Amino acid sequence: MSSIISVQDLSKEYDNGFKALKNINLEIEQGEVIALLGPNGAGKTTLISIICGLVSPTSGQVLVGGNNVIKDYRKARSMIGLVPQEIALEPFQSVMNGMKFTRGLFGKRPDAELMKDILMRLSLWDKRDAKTMELSGGMKRRVLIAKALCHEPAVLFLDEPTAGVDVELRKDMWAVIEQLKAEGVTIILTTHYIEEAEAIADRVGIIRKGDLLLVEQKETLMQRMGQRQMVIELSEPIIAIPKNLKPFNLEYSSEDLTLTYSYEASGERTGIASLFTELSNAKIILRDVQTHQSSLEDIFVDLIGDKS
Ligand SMILES: Nc1ncnc2c1ncn2[C@@H]1O[C@H](COP(=O)(O)OP(=O)(O)OP(=O)(O)O)[C@@H](O)[C@H]1O
Ligand SMILES: [Mg+2]
Repeated sequence: MSSIISVQDLSKEYDNGFKALKNINLEIEQGEVIALLGPNGAGKTTLISIICGLVSPTSGQVLVGGNNVIKDYRKARSMIGLVPQEIALEPFQSVMNGMKFTRGLFGKRPDAELMKDILMRLSLWDKRDAKTMELSGGMKRRVLIAKALCHEPAVLFLDEPTAGVDVELRKDMWAVIEQLKAEGVTIILTTHYIEEAEAIADRVGIIRKGDLLLVEQKETLMQRMGQRQMVIELSEPIIAIPKNLKPFNLEYSSEDLTLTYSYEASGERTGIASLFTELSNAKIILRDVQTHQSSLEDIFVDLIGDKS
């Protein structure tokens, strides 16, 4: 399948000499949801702004639906809906008028049914005549999404769509995103909430200091990088880890009376069976055993760590 978005050898150096993006390559397929994670200042908004044609790259190129975002700006931009990180709305404009105006900017005929459908989905229908300044922060975020959808874009960018949004509303937004995905819309979002990526993304990209460290299917990433830990509770304290258990690199906590064994979640041979045999050989009596799978959050912290 050919990509709907193709980012090729993209670099960005701002006028002050700051290198915000370093040779980014990224292919995005139609209909996927991709989450870009990275610390503040990593370059996420810069990348989105270049794909949307709002910031010019220093080198490299970006194609959206085969259209170069600089040479064929209008064609490329018409395929894109952008929900910006910063809330920028006309304070005196009503929700509905803002949407109609935005649709008009893209040269599309008025479509009252579509406007209603979008507002209903985002639970904003009863606010259609309210002025922006009369809305709460969470409502304004939803208005930004509504406006981004009103020219029926094939690709939707959401730059931190749920920043400052309460848990319930965040889940409502995830449902809206899932519905759009089901309709074939390609979705690229940035987020600081890792559980958000875990909940809705097909693929995850991690950006640090302008480098795209990795882009991977979420499941693969969690399997490949995910460590499993087995915590073994002992009935009695031990003086030292017996020699025959050394190869397992166990960690002993004399406080909790536990031995912890870490292994690759995806490994074919986890070593658990032989660990139990050796524990029995060493005459260690177990009280309880628990396992723990690392989350996307653990993986992210591992990768970004204190290096950011
Ligand atoms: N117009 C600009 N001129 C100079 N430097 C800029 C400009 N815009 C952004 N930067 C710098 O580029 C880097 C990346 O910024 P960007 O906004 O892309 O980060 P981000 O990953 O979106 O961060 P956040 O999570 O805080 O939104 C930052 O160091 C920022 O200061
Ligand atoms: Mg940003």
